[in-house]
Amino acid sequence: MCGIVGYVGPKDARDVVLEGLRRLEYRGYDSAGIAVVADGQLSSAKKAGKLANLEKLLADQPLPAATVGIGHTRWATHGGPTDRNAHPHLSADGTVAVIHNGIIENFAALRAECESAGVEFTSETDTEVAAHLLAAAYAAAPEGQGRLAEAMRVICRRLEGAFTLVATSAHEPDTLVAARRSSPLVVGVGDGEYFLGSDVAAFISHTREARELGQDEVVEIDRHRGLSVTDFAGNPVEPKSYTVDWDAEAAEKGGYDWFMLKEIAEQPKAIADTLLGRLGANGELVLDEVRLSDQDLRDIDKIFVVACGTAYHAGLIAKYAIEHWTRIPVEVEVASEFRYRDPVLDRSTLVVVVSQSGETMDTLMALRHAKDQKARVLAICNANGSTIPRESDAVLYTHAGPEIAVASTKGFLTQLVACYLVGLFLAQVRGIKYEDEVATVVAELRELPAAVAKVLEQMEPVRELGRSMADADRMLFLGRHVSFPVALEGALKLKELAYIHAEGFAAGELKHGPIAVVDEGTPVVIVVPPRARDLLHAKVVSNIQEVRARGARTIVIAEEGDEDVVPYADHVIRVPRTPTLLAPVVTTVPLQVLACEIADSRGLDVDQPRNLAKSVTVE
Ligand code: G6P
Repeated sequence: MCGIVGYVGPKDARDVVLEGLRRLEYRGYDSAGIAVVADGQLSSAKKAGKLANLEKLLADQPLPAATVGIGHTRWATHGGPTDRNAHPHLSADGTVAVIHNGIIENFAALRAECESAGVEFTSETDTEVAAHLLAAAYAAAPEGQGRLAEAMRVICRRLEGAFTLVATSAHEPDTLVAARRSSPLVVGVGDGEYFLGSDVAAFISHTREARELGQDEVVEIDRHRGLSVTDFAGNPVEPKSYTVDWDAEAAEKGGYDWFMLKEIAEQPKAIADTLLGRLGANGELVLDEVRLSDQDLRDIDKIFVVACGTAYHAGLIAKYAIEHWTRIPVEVEVASEFRYRDPVLDRSTLVVVVSQSGETMDTLMALRHAKDQKARVLAICNANGSTIPRESDAVLYTHAGPEIAVASTKGFLTQLVACYLVGLFLAQVRGIKYEDEVATVVAELRELPAAVAKVLEQMEPVRELGRSMADADRMLFLGRHVSFPVALEGALKLKELAYIHAEGFAAGELKHGPIAVVDEGTPVVIVVPPRARDLLHAKVVSNIQEVRARGARTIVIAEEGDEDVVPYADHVIRVPRTPTLLAPVVTTVPLQVLACEIADSRGLDVDQPRNLAKSVTVE
């Protein structure tokens, strides 16, 4: 949520910053802006709407060439998506420009303080206070090197909430200063040049060398003096270095019309990569970082899975698998509700936080609450070096590669695979499953990339179906057991992408209310369990008949060879036979494709749906 870019180096900062913004636009696209310092002068430009609007403005009114620059792409929180509220925000004297991601919670009091000192505000944002405070703190800071960084530390000690701030000043034309608390920021280090980004996508075409910034740290980047990091009190900090394990090509569309299509197509590889190297020589599972002892894991008597959006749906599916394999009770909860209802947590509770980005604020706050209550926290995450894994006791990374489309696809399937691995790992450590039993399931997991590839080969009829549904105004999704969360995910995808009202239900609940909304022609998608699950299968086949009898247009997802559904299905979408607990990995795929195709047919922006952002870094 909100993309932040900064550059210091010999290249033209305007180009580097705009390229970075293009790569980060998925984080927010309500407005965009840029500021550069050239010849001791600060100049900026900003425009509401997508980045293209800013680019057009810059084509008409170019900024001067510069070697230091910052840029921002916004997802509005405080103040509407207007030109005025777009970042950068400038101090009243025009010498300092600030960009921000997050929310400054005490901004009202700070704004009143600035106003009583005579400052006139030009926007409704919380960010603007930072620009005015920074200019005042700069004026008060001792002269000499590092003055802007010192001013940043001074203001950060006063700010409450979550923020990444990046500032540039006409007084220090070779310097960028940035600070972070709970919002993301990484530093890229090239040959005589430095980059700042909300994530590494901002600079991946220039360098793969990155530095991780910790909580409550300020970084100063000076063209001549290089990089230095301190905490908010001014104590030096050594940032952790890492090399990004994907390249610029991974963040390109690669010939697809949409990033989402590319990411759907990448799912077999993403699953295979997530499984790779997870099984040790003795059949044991290998996690990336486990700062928990086997005894800790044996002591666990309850598990929470906590996440948001699509990741929450992965958690719902994880419950079936983890409970089945470990016999430990699992609760699943949306992160934004978790900490506010005083959940029962203690040392023997394991909280599994699932987050593609590793930066979702609701999930991060749930994690911190769990840790305050002494629970153990294990993160399942796709973004190396992000906040959520850093603050967790153990980490299992999904290796999906960069996910750019706002709606999660490969992120979701790899989260599922990681959740399965966690369940198996726990079952093994606790002695509930023998190594060979774990190995059997892992072997089944290894079949999944091929199964998903097979689903993808058969998607043309689904695309056709999607094109025929462009005018739908509502849709239902039904499933039972693990297919119930799949139904929820199918409905979410359709809402997110096509803006069609859709709901997912447990098929058994249909008769308790939802069936009232079914009438002639209502599209209903039913995810049918494997035939091996006799009873469940038969019940879902009955559910198909029930909606059909009320006039529904039935779209049925069923395994190959399941002929029982044929008489009641207007459309059958086939998936390969897969063990029940793992079936969501294959049954979700047609729902992704369907939503994508419907949205595309409606002429919508599949990758950047309205009102959404990829990484939601506010609560
Ligand atoms: C946002 C995105 C969703 C995503 C959710 C959780 O709402 O639009 O696609 O599922 O955040 O994101 P995370 O990065 O924590 O998995």
